[in-house]
Amino acid sequence: MANLPSGNRDSFSSKFGVIAAAAGSAVGLGNIWRFPLVTTQNGGGAFLMLYIGFIILIGIPVMLSEFTIGRRAQLNAFGSFKKLAPKSPWYLVGSLGIITAFAILSFYSTVAGWTLEYLVQAVSGKLLHTDDMVSNFAGFSSSSARPVIWQLVIMVITGLVVYGGIKKGIEKFTKILMPVLVILIALVVVRSVTLPGAGEGIRYLFIPDWSAVNFKTVLMALGQAAFSLSIGMGTLITYGSYIQKDNHLLKTASQVAFTDTFIAILASLMVIPAIFAFSVGSVDQMSPGPGLVFEVLPNVFKAMPGGVVFAVIFFFLLCVAALTSTISVLEVVVAYLKEELKLSRGKATLIASVSISVLGVLATLSFGVLSNFLIFGKTIFGLLDFASANIMLTFGALLIVIFVGWKLGKINFLDELSNQGQLKSSLYKVVFFIIRYIAPVAIGIIAVAALFIKGI
Ligand code: PHE
Repeated sequence: MANLPSGNRDSFSSKFGVIAAAAGSAVGLGNIWRFPLVTTQNGGGAFLMLYIGFIILIGIPVMLSEFTIGRRAQLNAFGSFKKLAPKSPWYLVGSLGIITAFAILSFYSTVAGWTLEYLVQAVSGKLLHTDDMVSNFAGFSSSSARPVIWQLVIMVITGLVVYGGIKKGIEKFTKILMPVLVILIALVVVRSVTLPGAGEGIRYLFIPDWSAVNFKTVLMALGQAAFSLSIGMGTLITYGSYIQKDNHLLKTASQVAFTDTFIAILASLMVIPAIFAFSVGSVDQMSPGPGLVFEVLPNVFKAMPGGVVFAVIFFFLLCVAALTSTISVLEVVVAYLKEELKLSRGKATLIASVSISVLGVLATLSFGVLSNFLIFGKTIFGLLDFASANIMLTFGALLIVIFVGWKLGKINFLDELSNQGQLKSSLYKVVFFIIRYIAPVAIGIIAVAALFIKGI
Protein backbone atom coordinates (compact mmCIF):
# COMPACT_ATOMS: atom_id res chain seq x y z
CA MET A 1 0.00 0.00 0.00
CA ALA A 2 3.06 2.23 0.12
CA ASN A 3 2.25 3.79 -3.21
CA LEU A 4 -1.27 4.81 -2.42
CA PRO A 5 -1.49 8.57 -2.51
CA SER A 6 -3.60 9.02 0.53
CA GLY A 7 -5.39 6.98 3.19
CA ASN A 8 -8.18 4.96 1.72
CA ARG A 9 -8.95 6.95 -1.41
CA ASP A 10 -9.46 4.62 -4.36
CA SER A 11 -6.82 4.87 -7.12
CA PHE A 12 -5.62 3.26 -10.33
CA SER A 13 -3.50 0.25 -9.53
CA SER A 14 -1.17 0.23 -12.52
CA LYS A 15 0.36 2.45 -15.17
CA PHE A 16 -1.48 0.56 -17.86
CA GLY A 17 -4.70 1.08 -15.94
CA VAL A 18 -4.25 4.85 -16.00
CA ILE A 19 -3.53 4.85 -19.72
CA ALA A 20 -6.44 2.53 -20.52
CA ALA A 21 -8.85 4.69 -18.55
CA ALA A 22 -7.63 8.06 -19.85
CA ALA A 23 -7.25 6.83 -23.43
CA GLY A 24 -10.68 5.21 -23.03
CA SER A 25 -12.09 8.62 -22.22
CA ALA A 26 -10.26 10.25 -25.12
CA VAL A 27 -11.11 7.65 -27.73
CA GLY A 28 -14.77 8.01 -28.49
CA LEU A 29 -17.31 9.04 -31.06
CA GLY A 30 -15.12 12.06 -31.81
CA ASN A 31 -12.41 9.79 -33.21
CA ILE A 32 -14.68 7.64 -35.29
CA TRP A 33 -17.48 9.73 -36.64
CA ARG A 34 -15.85 13.15 -36.79
CA PHE A 35 -12.12 12.86 -37.30
CA PRO A 36 -12.06 10.81 -40.56
CA LEU A 37 -14.39 13.11 -42.50
CA VAL A 38 -13.15 16.34 -40.99
CA THR A 39 -9.60 15.36 -41.99
CA THR A 40 -10.52 14.27 -45.48
CA GLN A 41 -12.58 17.38 -46.17
CA ASN A 42 -10.04 19.84 -44.82
CA GLY A 43 -6.84 19.13 -46.63
CA GLY A 44 -6.06 15.51 -45.67
CA GLY A 45 -2.39 15.28 -44.68
CA ALA A 46 -2.24 19.04 -44.18
CA PHE A 47 -5.04 18.89 -41.60
CA LEU A 48 -3.39 15.87 -40.02
CA MET A 49 -0.11 17.75 -39.57
CA LEU A 50 -1.90 20.71 -38.02
CA TYR A 51 -3.87 18.38 -35.78
CA ILE A 52 -0.79 16.52 -34.56
CA GLY A 53 0.94 19.85 -34.00
CA PHE A 54 -1.92 20.99 -31.76
CA ILE A 55 -2.03 17.71 -29.88
CA ILE A 56 1.64 18.10 -28.98
CA LEU A 57 1.73 21.84 -28.49
CA ILE A 58 -1.60 22.43 -26.76
CA GLY A 59 -3.28 19.10 -26.00
CA ILE A 60 -0.53 17.50 -23.94
CA PRO A 61 0.15 20.65 -21.88
CA VAL A 62 -3.56 21.06 -21.05
CA MET A 63 -3.84 17.38 -20.19
CA LEU A 64 -0.83 17.77 -17.91
CA SER A 65 -2.42 20.79 -16.27
CA GLU A 66 -5.49 18.73 -15.46
CA PHE A 67 -3.52 15.74 -14.18
CA THR A 68 -1.47 18.10 -12.02
CA ILE A 69 -4.50 19.80 -10.49
CA GLY A 70 -6.18 16.48 -9.68
CA ARG A 71 -3.17 14.64 -8.37
CA ARG A 72 -2.01 17.53 -6.26
CA ALA A 73 -5.41 18.11 -4.66
CA GLN A 74 -6.52 14.46 -4.45
CA LEU A 75 -10.08 15.59 -5.01
CA ASN A 76 -12.86 15.87 -7.58
CA ALA A 77 -12.83 18.68 -10.17
CA PHE A 78 -14.75 21.11 -7.95
CA GLY A 79 -13.00 20.28 -4.67
CA SER A 80 -9.58 20.45 -6.35
CA PHE A 81 -9.96 24.14 -7.18
CA LYS A 82 -11.32 24.87 -3.71
CA LYS A 83 -8.36 23.18 -2.10
CA LEU A 84 -5.64 24.61 -4.34
CA ALA A 85 -7.06 28.14 -4.38
CA PRO A 86 -8.97 28.61 -1.14
CA LYS A 87 -11.06 31.73 -0.59
CA SER A 88 -11.11 32.59 -4.28
CA PRO A 89 -13.70 32.15 -7.03
CA TRP A 90 -11.59 29.55 -8.88
CA TYR A 91 -13.95 26.82 -7.68
CA LEU A 92 -16.35 28.18 -10.32
CA VAL A 93 -14.14 26.54 -12.96
CA GLY A 94 -14.86 23.28 -11.17
CA SER A 95 -18.58 24.04 -11.21
CA LEU A 96 -18.38 24.73 -14.93
CA GLY A 97 -16.74 21.33 -15.37
CA ILE A 98 -19.53 19.55 -13.50
CA ILE A 99 -22.21 21.33 -15.55
CA THR A 100 -20.33 20.51 -18.77
CA ALA A 101 -20.16 16.86 -17.77
CA PHE A 102 -23.91 16.90 -17.29
CA ALA A 103 -24.50 18.47 -20.70
CA ILE A 104 -22.05 16.26 -22.60
CA LEU A 105 -23.33 13.03 -21.14
CA SER A 106 -26.94 13.85 -21.92
CA PHE A 107 -26.41 14.11 -25.67
CA TYR A 108 -23.51 11.67 -25.89
CA SER A 109 -25.68 8.94 -24.35
CA THR A 110 -28.31 9.53 -27.05
CA VAL A 111 -25.76 8.68 -29.71
CA ALA A 112 -24.25 5.85 -27.70
CA GLY A 113 -27.77 4.40 -27.51
CA TRP A 114 -28.13 4.61 -31.30
CA THR A 115 -25.00 2.50 -31.68
CA LEU A 116 -26.67 -0.24 -29.61
CA GLU A 117 -29.74 -0.20 -31.87
CA TYR A 118 -27.50 -0.52 -34.92
CA LEU A 119 -25.53 -3.31 -33.30
CA VAL A 120 -28.78 -5.20 -32.79
CA GLN A 121 -29.95 -4.41 -36.33
CA ALA A 122 -26.61 -5.64 -37.69
CA VAL A 123 -26.68 -8.86 -35.65
CA SER A 124 -30.26 -9.65 -36.61
CA GLY A 125 -29.46 -9.12 -40.29
CA LYS A 126 -32.11 -6.41 -40.62
CA LEU A 127 -29.62 -3.63 -41.31
CA LEU A 128 -28.09 -5.11 -44.40
CA HIS A 129 -31.50 -5.92 -45.83
CA THR A 130 -32.58 -2.32 -45.57
CA ASP A 131 -33.05 -0.56 -48.90
CA ASP A 132 -33.16 3.00 -47.74
CA MET A 133 -30.64 3.72 -44.99
CA VAL A 134 -31.66 7.35 -44.71
CA SER A 135 -35.28 6.63 -43.90
CA ASN A 136 -34.24 3.70 -41.69
CA PHE A 137 -32.26 6.09 -39.53
CA ALA A 138 -34.85 8.87 -39.65
CA GLY A 139 -37.62 6.44 -38.71
CA PHE A 140 -35.68 5.00 -35.78
CA SER A 141 -34.23 8.22 -34.37
CA SER A 142 -37.56 10.05 -34.49
CA SER A 143 -39.49 7.32 -32.67
CA SER A 144 -40.15 7.69 -28.98
CA ALA A 145 -39.55 4.34 -27.36
CA ARG A 146 -36.51 2.54 -28.78
CA PRO A 147 -33.95 5.37 -28.74
CA VAL A 148 -34.92 6.20 -25.16
CA ILE A 149 -34.67 2.59 -24.04
CA TRP A 150 -31.21 2.20 -25.60
CA GLN A 151 -30.07 5.43 -24.00
CA LEU A 152 -31.20 4.16 -20.62
CA VAL A 153 -29.37 0.87 -21.22
CA ILE A 154 -26.19 2.89 -21.86
CA MET A 155 -26.75 4.88 -18.68
CA VAL A 156 -27.29 1.71 -16.65
CA ILE A 157 -24.09 0.08 -17.97
CA THR A 158 -22.18 3.32 -17.39
CA GLY A 159 -23.61 3.60 -13.88
CA LEU A 160 -22.72 0.00 -13.01
CA VAL A 161 -19.09 0.43 -14.07
CA VAL A 162 -18.76 3.70 -12.16
CA TYR A 163 -20.45 2.18 -9.14
CA GLY A 164 -17.67 -0.45 -9.15
CA GLY A 165 -15.19 2.31 -8.29
CA ILE A 166 -11.81 3.10 -9.80
CA LYS A 167 -9.81 -0.12 -9.50
CA LYS A 168 -12.66 -2.59 -9.66
CA GLY A 169 -14.91 -0.65 -12.01
CA ILE A 170 -13.35 1.84 -14.38
CA GLU A 171 -9.82 0.39 -14.50
CA LYS A 172 -10.95 -3.21 -14.88
CA PHE A 173 -13.47 -2.35 -17.60
CA THR A 174 -11.16 -0.18 -19.68
CA LYS A 175 -8.14 -2.48 -19.28
CA ILE A 176 -10.08 -5.25 -20.99
CA LEU A 177 -12.00 -3.21 -23.53
CA MET A 178 -9.34 -0.85 -24.85
CA PRO A 179 -7.11 -3.63 -26.23
CA VAL A 180 -10.24 -5.28 -27.68
CA LEU A 181 -11.13 -1.98 -29.34
CA VAL A 182 -7.70 -1.65 -30.97
CA ILE A 183 -7.80 -5.23 -32.27
CA LEU A 184 -11.28 -4.80 -33.73
CA ILE A 185 -10.42 -1.53 -35.42
CA ALA A 186 -7.28 -3.11 -36.86
CA LEU A 187 -9.39 -5.95 -38.29
CA VAL A 188 -11.74 -3.56 -40.07
CA VAL A 189 -8.78 -1.48 -41.28
CA VAL A 190 -7.21 -4.54 -42.92
CA ARG A 191 -10.50 -5.24 -44.70
CA SER A 192 -10.97 -1.64 -45.76
CA VAL A 193 -7.49 -0.94 -47.13
CA THR A 194 -7.34 -4.20 -49.08
CA LEU A 195 -10.55 -3.51 -51.00
CA PRO A 196 -10.11 -2.86 -54.72
CA GLY A 197 -10.13 0.91 -55.20
CA ALA A 198 -9.13 1.66 -51.61
CA GLY A 199 -5.88 3.28 -52.73
CA GLU A 200 -7.63 6.40 -53.94
CA GLY A 201 -9.19 6.89 -50.52
CA ILE A 202 -5.86 6.46 -48.78
CA ARG A 203 -4.27 9.04 -51.08
CA TYR A 204 -7.16 11.44 -50.52
CA LEU A 205 -6.76 11.00 -46.79
CA PHE A 206 -3.03 11.51 -46.51
CA ILE A 207 -1.85 13.68 -49.39
CA PRO A 208 -1.62 17.22 -48.01
CA ASP A 209 -3.73 19.79 -49.79
CA TRP A 210 -2.59 23.06 -48.31
CA SER A 211 -5.02 25.03 -50.46
CA ALA A 212 -7.86 23.66 -48.31
CA VAL A 213 -6.31 25.13 -45.17
CA ASN A 214 -7.57 28.47 -43.91
CA PHE A 215 -8.22 30.18 -40.58
CA LYS A 216 -11.34 28.11 -39.98
CA THR A 217 -9.50 24.85 -40.70
CA VAL A 218 -6.83 25.76 -38.18
CA LEU A 219 -9.47 26.45 -35.56
CA MET A 220 -11.25 23.22 -36.39
CA ALA A 221 -8.03 21.25 -35.94
CA LEU A 222 -7.51 22.77 -32.51
CA GLY A 223 -11.15 22.30 -31.49
CA GLN A 224 -11.15 18.68 -32.62
CA ALA A 225 -7.87 18.05 -30.76
CA ALA A 226 -9.36 19.43 -27.54
CA PHE A 227 -12.63 17.50 -27.78
CA SER A 228 -10.84 14.32 -28.74
CA LEU A 229 -8.46 14.45 -25.78
CA SER A 230 -11.40 15.05 -23.38
CA ILE A 231 -9.76 18.17 -22.02
CA GLY A 232 -11.52 21.19 -20.60
CA MET A 233 -14.13 19.83 -18.23
CA GLY A 234 -12.41 18.05 -15.41
CA THR A 235 -12.47 14.45 -16.65
CA LEU A 236 -8.71 14.42 -16.48
CA ILE A 237 -8.64 16.33 -13.20
CA THR A 238 -10.85 13.62 -11.74
CA TYR A 239 -8.83 10.78 -13.24
CA GLY A 240 -5.63 12.62 -12.28
CA SER A 241 -6.71 12.51 -8.65
CA TYR A 242 -6.60 8.70 -8.83
CA ILE A 243 -3.10 8.54 -10.33
CA GLN A 244 -0.43 7.35 -7.93
CA LYS A 245 2.26 9.73 -6.76
CA ASP A 246 5.12 7.87 -8.46
CA ASN A 247 3.53 7.98 -11.92
CA HIS A 248 5.49 9.83 -14.60
CA LEU A 249 2.77 12.29 -15.66
CA LEU A 250 4.49 13.64 -18.77
CA LYS A 251 5.04 10.13 -20.07
CA THR A 252 1.46 9.13 -19.27
CA ALA A 253 -0.04 12.20 -20.96
CA SER A 254 2.12 11.61 -24.06
CA GLN A 255 1.08 7.96 -24.24
CA VAL A 256 -2.60 8.84 -23.90
CA ALA A 257 -2.34 11.53 -26.60
CA PHE A 258 -0.45 9.15 -28.87
CA THR A 259 -3.06 6.41 -28.43
CA ASP A 260 -5.92 8.79 -29.12
CA THR A 261 -4.28 10.12 -32.29
CA PHE A 262 -3.24 6.67 -33.46
CA ILE A 263 -6.81 5.42 -33.10
CA ALA A 264 -8.20 8.47 -34.90
CA ILE A 265 -5.88 7.70 -37.83
CA LEU A 266 -6.84 4.02 -37.74
CA ALA A 267 -10.50 5.03 -37.71
CA SER A 268 -9.90 7.10 -40.83
CA LEU A 269 -8.24 4.13 -42.52
CA MET A 270 -11.25 2.06 -41.55
CA VAL A 271 -13.81 4.47 -42.98
CA ILE A 272 -12.41 6.47 -45.90
CA PRO A 273 -10.88 3.78 -48.17
CA ALA A 274 -14.09 1.71 -47.89
CA ILE A 275 -16.23 4.70 -48.88
CA PHE A 276 -14.04 5.20 -51.95
CA ALA A 277 -13.98 1.51 -52.83
CA PHE A 278 -17.77 1.32 -53.04
CA SER A 279 -18.32 4.83 -54.37
CA VAL A 280 -21.29 5.32 -52.07
CA GLY A 281 -21.08 9.07 -52.47
CA SER A 282 -18.71 11.98 -52.54
CA VAL A 283 -16.81 12.47 -49.29
CA ASP A 284 -16.90 16.21 -49.75
CA GLN A 285 -20.64 16.21 -49.58
CA MET A 286 -20.96 14.01 -46.50
CA SER A 287 -21.39 15.48 -43.09
CA PRO A 288 -19.62 13.99 -40.12
CA GLY A 289 -21.79 12.42 -37.48
CA PRO A 290 -24.97 10.40 -37.82
CA GLY A 291 -25.06 10.68 -41.62
CA LEU A 292 -21.69 8.98 -41.91
CA VAL A 293 -22.12 6.29 -39.32
CA PHE A 294 -25.78 5.39 -39.63
CA GLU A 295 -26.42 6.03 -43.32
CA VAL A 296 -23.24 5.93 -45.41
CA LEU A 297 -21.37 3.14 -43.65
CA PRO A 298 -24.30 0.70 -43.56
CA ASN A 299 -24.41 1.03 -47.36
CA VAL A 300 -20.69 0.29 -47.47
CA PHE A 301 -21.19 -2.85 -45.37
CA LYS A 302 -24.05 -3.88 -47.61
CA ALA A 303 -21.83 -3.74 -50.66
CA MET A 304 -18.86 -5.45 -48.98
CA PRO A 305 -18.34 -9.21 -49.20
CA GLY A 306 -18.85 -10.53 -45.67
CA GLY A 307 -20.20 -7.11 -44.77
CA VAL A 308 -22.47 -8.39 -42.04
CA VAL A 309 -19.50 -9.50 -39.94
CA PHE A 310 -17.81 -6.14 -40.35
CA ALA A 311 -21.02 -4.28 -39.58
CA VAL A 312 -21.37 -6.19 -36.31
CA ILE A 313 -17.72 -5.56 -35.42
CA PHE A 314 -18.00 -1.89 -36.33
CA PHE A 315 -21.09 -1.11 -34.26
CA PHE A 316 -19.74 -3.11 -31.36
CA LEU A 317 -16.47 -1.18 -31.38
CA LEU A 318 -18.33 2.11 -31.68
CA CYS A 319 -20.35 1.18 -28.64
CA VAL A 320 -17.21 0.26 -26.68
CA ALA A 321 -15.53 3.51 -27.67
CA ALA A 322 -18.59 5.45 -26.51
CA LEU A 323 -18.90 3.57 -23.21
CA THR A 324 -15.30 4.09 -22.13
CA SER A 325 -15.97 7.81 -22.66
CA THR A 326 -19.36 7.94 -20.91
CA ILE A 327 -17.93 6.38 -17.75
CA SER A 328 -15.24 9.05 -17.57
CA VAL A 329 -17.85 11.78 -17.78
CA LEU A 330 -20.17 10.22 -15.21
CA GLU A 331 -17.24 9.80 -12.81
CA VAL A 332 -16.74 13.60 -12.84
CA VAL A 333 -20.23 14.10 -11.41
CA VAL A 334 -20.10 11.09 -9.10
CA ALA A 335 -16.76 12.08 -7.56
CA TYR A 336 -18.17 15.54 -6.98
CA LEU A 337 -21.36 14.34 -5.27
CA LYS A 338 -19.46 11.76 -3.26
CA GLU A 339 -16.79 14.08 -1.92
CA GLU A 340 -18.56 17.40 -1.67
CA LEU A 341 -21.95 16.19 -0.46
CA LYS A 342 -20.44 13.23 1.42
CA LEU A 343 -22.67 10.67 -0.27
CA SER A 344 -21.81 7.00 -0.66
CA ARG A 345 -20.58 5.98 -4.13
CA GLY A 346 -23.83 4.08 -4.65
CA LYS A 347 -26.07 7.03 -3.86
CA ALA A 348 -23.89 9.46 -5.81
CA THR A 349 -23.97 7.18 -8.87
CA LEU A 350 -27.72 6.77 -8.67
CA ILE A 351 -28.43 10.47 -8.31
CA ALA A 352 -26.00 11.43 -11.09
CA SER A 353 -27.23 8.77 -13.52
CA VAL A 354 -30.92 9.44 -12.96
CA SER A 355 -30.66 13.21 -13.23
CA ILE A 356 -28.47 13.06 -16.34
CA SER A 357 -30.87 10.54 -17.88
CA VAL A 358 -33.78 12.95 -17.46
CA LEU A 359 -31.98 15.60 -19.51
CA GLY A 360 -30.69 12.89 -21.83
CA VAL A 361 -34.17 11.64 -22.66
CA LEU A 362 -35.18 15.16 -23.66
CA ALA A 363 -32.12 15.27 -25.94
CA THR A 364 -33.09 11.95 -27.50
CA LEU A 365 -36.69 13.01 -28.04
CA SER A 366 -35.55 16.14 -29.81
CA PHE A 367 -35.21 14.00 -32.95
CA GLY A 368 -38.90 13.12 -32.69
CA VAL A 369 -41.72 14.55 -30.62
CA LEU A 370 -39.62 17.46 -29.40
CA SER A 371 -38.14 18.33 -32.80
CA ASN A 372 -40.07 21.59 -32.92
CA PHE A 373 -39.07 22.64 -29.44
CA LEU A 374 -36.29 25.08 -30.19
CA ILE A 375 -34.13 27.17 -27.90
CA PHE A 376 -31.98 29.82 -29.65
CA GLY A 377 -33.03 28.14 -32.87
CA LYS A 378 -31.62 24.78 -31.81
CA THR A 379 -33.17 21.53 -30.61
CA ILE A 380 -32.33 20.41 -27.07
CA PHE A 381 -29.79 17.96 -28.50
CA GLY A 382 -28.31 20.61 -30.78
CA LEU A 383 -28.06 23.12 -27.99
CA LEU A 384 -26.42 20.70 -25.53
CA ASP A 385 -23.97 19.59 -28.21
CA PHE A 386 -23.10 23.11 -29.34
CA ALA A 387 -22.94 24.67 -25.89
CA SER A 388 -20.82 21.96 -24.33
CA ALA A 389 -18.45 20.95 -27.13
CA ASN A 390 -17.97 24.38 -28.69
CA ILE A 391 -18.27 26.75 -25.80
CA MET A 392 -18.02 25.18 -22.36
CA LEU A 393 -15.10 22.84 -23.14
CA THR A 394 -13.02 25.55 -24.75
CA PHE A 395 -13.66 28.07 -22.00
CA GLY A 396 -12.99 25.32 -19.48
CA ALA A 397 -9.64 24.51 -21.08
CA LEU A 398 -8.79 28.20 -21.21
CA LEU A 399 -9.50 28.73 -17.52
CA ILE A 400 -7.62 25.57 -16.57
CA VAL A 401 -4.39 26.67 -18.26
CA ILE A 402 -4.73 30.17 -16.82
CA PHE A 403 -5.18 28.59 -13.40
CA VAL A 404 -2.06 26.45 -13.66
CA GLY A 405 0.06 29.05 -15.42
CA TRP A 406 -0.84 32.04 -13.27
CA LYS A 407 -2.38 30.84 -10.01
CA LEU A 408 -0.94 27.45 -9.13
CA GLY A 409 2.37 28.64 -10.53
CA LYS A 410 5.67 27.25 -11.71
CA ILE A 411 6.96 25.91 -8.40
CA ASN A 412 3.89 23.80 -7.67
CA PHE A 413 3.60 22.65 -11.26
CA LEU A 414 7.24 21.56 -11.53
CA ASP A 415 7.06 19.93 -8.12
CA GLU A 416 4.08 17.81 -9.15
CA LEU A 417 5.40 16.97 -12.60
CA SER A 418 8.80 15.91 -11.26
CA ASN A 419 7.26 13.87 -8.43
CA GLN A 420 8.71 16.21 -5.82
CA GLY A 421 12.07 16.50 -7.53
CA GLN A 422 12.59 12.79 -8.17
CA LEU A 423 12.32 13.09 -11.95
CA LYS A 424 14.32 15.47 -14.08
CA SER A 425 13.57 16.72 -17.57
CA SER A 426 14.32 19.96 -19.37
CA LEU A 427 10.90 19.60 -21.01
CA TYR A 428 9.06 20.50 -17.81
CA LYS A 429 9.98 24.16 -18.09
CA VAL A 430 9.07 24.23 -21.77
CA VAL A 431 5.66 22.77 -20.94
CA PHE A 432 5.12 25.37 -18.24
CA PHE A 433 6.04 28.16 -20.65
CA ILE A 434 3.43 26.83 -23.10
CA ILE A 435 0.81 26.60 -20.36
CA ARG A 436 1.49 30.12 -19.14
CA TYR A 437 1.82 31.99 -22.42
CA ILE A 438 1.03 30.03 -25.57
CA ALA A 439 -1.95 27.84 -24.66
CA PRO A 440 -4.09 30.67 -23.24
CA VAL A 441 -3.65 32.74 -26.41
CA ALA A 442 -4.31 29.82 -28.78
CA ILE A 443 -7.30 28.52 -26.84
CA GLY A 444 -8.57 32.05 -26.24
CA ILE A 445 -8.70 32.65 -29.99
CA ILE A 446 -10.72 29.52 -30.65
CA ALA A 447 -12.98 30.15 -27.67
CA VAL A 448 -13.96 33.53 -29.06
CA ALA A 449 -14.05 32.43 -32.69
CA ALA A 450 -16.23 29.43 -31.86
CA LEU A 451 -18.91 31.84 -30.72
CA PHE A 452 -19.01 33.54 -34.09
CA ILE A 453 -17.87 31.17 -36.82
CA LYS A 454 -20.37 28.48 -37.77
CA GLY A 455 -19.23 24.91 -38.09
CA ILE A 456 -16.10 24.89 -35.98
N1 PHE B 1 -13.06 12.53 -26.17
C1 PHE B 1 -14.35 12.00 -26.41
C2 PHE B 1 -14.48 11.65 -27.88
O1 PHE B 1 -13.59 11.84 -28.67
C3 PHE B 1 -15.44 12.91 -25.99
C4 PHE B 1 -15.32 13.46 -24.59
C5 PHE B 1 -15.18 14.81 -24.39
C6 PHE B 1 -15.34 12.60 -23.51
C7 PHE B 1 -15.01 15.32 -23.13
C8 PHE B 1 -15.15 13.11 -22.23
C9 PHE B 1 -15.01 14.47 -22.04
O2 PHE B 1 -15.52 11.22 -28.31
